[in-house]
Amino acid sequence: MTRLGVLLSGRGSNFSAIAQAIKEGTLRDCEIAVVIANREDAVGLEIAREMGLPARCIVSKGVPRAEHDAAVIAALKSFGVELVVLAGYMRVLTPAFIAAFPQAILNIHPSLLPSFAGLDVQKAALEYGVKFAGCTVHFVDEAVDHGVIVLQRTVEVLDADTPATLAARILVEEHQAYPEAIARVISGQYTVVGRRYIRA
Ligand code: GAR
Repeated sequence: MTRLGVLLSGRGSNFSAIAQAIKEGTLRDCEIAVVIANREDAVGLEIAREMGLPARCIVSKGVPRAEHDAAVIAALKSFGVELVVLAGYMRVLTPAFIAAFPQAILNIHPSLLPSFAGLDVQKAALEYGVKFAGCTVHFVDEAVDHGVIVLQRTVEVLDADTPATLAARILVEEHQAYPEAIARVISGQYTVVGRRYIRA
């Protein structure tokens, strides 16, 4: 049983999708050991509490980054977390955090990386005029939105799309992609070759 530690900052729909997949048995061999938010008003924290999962708030506002990350690392370790799952966690991790969980931190990003890293990515994708958009689940390394890609899912961009409608369609794919990516990682059947995440 791989113990997951979910970090989030907001509504927590990706966290909910992962929890649901575990509950339904479509995502097996793992359990959510703890959910940690960096802000008290994160809706995802409330959802975790309602589900009866261990849920902690470690407030980041006004706290030096290294100090906050150290507190989060300590909490994750105390719950025996083996795989860290960033689910709308709007913070860049310090190198110390990444070193504490080598090749064991996943993130989901609402674009087809390496295109459109950063924020407001659906707006950027529409302005650029791409015809396909999507989401990426990737390992976290020291560069933002850069680590080895586990999997991606695509959506077609429609003429009538606004950033909000595109984001909503991408989110549907995110909810499929994250459980599937976690399953891939914990299966032990994949390996990193160069930048490629492929079947061992
Ligand atoms: C998701 O769309 C996720 O891809 C994005 O934040 C949203 C969180 O939604 N993450 C990033 O932009 C990270 N760079 P959720 O709280 O409902 O899961």
